[in-house]
Amino acid sequence: MKIQTLGLASLCVILASCGGADTESAEYRGDEELPNGMTISEMIETRQDGLEDVGGSFKTISDELKKGDPNVADIQTAAANVEAHSQEIGDWFPEGTGADSGVETEALDSIWEDPEGFEAAITKFETAAGELNTAAQSGDVEAIQAAFETAGGTCKNCHDSYRADDD
Ligand code: HEC
Repeated sequence: MKIQTLGLASLCVILASCGGADTESAEYRGDEELPNGMTISEMIETRQDGLEDVGGSFKTISDELKKGDPNVADIQTAAANVEAHSQEIGDWFPEGTGADSGVETEALDSIWEDPEGFEAAITKFETAAGELNTAAQSGDVEAIQAAFETAGGTCKNCHDSYRADDD
């Protein structure tokens, strides 16, 4: 049976939904336990808190770099934090923690449909975050600036393919 021979209406019946995954209509399974012992909602909250923290540290570095005389100690603390989180991010997206869990999340299904691509995006981020921290600890502001831009590109690289509603 070819898909083209089906009308759109019958295709919708077969797929049991039209318009793709919809957080609002997914049945809530946030209380279900994952193999790591956390519930789905705990896992999603943990990763969102972690990513928020990455965002906060990244903003600290950005704000300092805009100053004529950046506070290098603050940059060093923030860069160390980003590197630490970059090594954890691989544990933050276990299978089952997408929007179809009924928990609000911007994590796209492409994370689990394209695990190699997602893994590659994590590796890029890890590498860049490590280089940013090395530059930060050196105290060389020009090197920090360059490494910061590279690291920022790796956030966008992942968000473009694996995060909804990024602006
Ligand atoms: C490997 C993929 C990946 C990388 C790398 C990545 N992110 Fe994200 N980020 C995501 C995904 C997916 C979400 C959505 C998570 C959710 O809603 O469950 C997200 C969410 C966020 C959020 C929102 C958190 C919240 O409050 O819900 C911020 C802020 C953020 N990322 C900042 C960054 C910054 C800054 C970097 C780089 C320094 C970065 N991210 C690198 C995938 C990534």
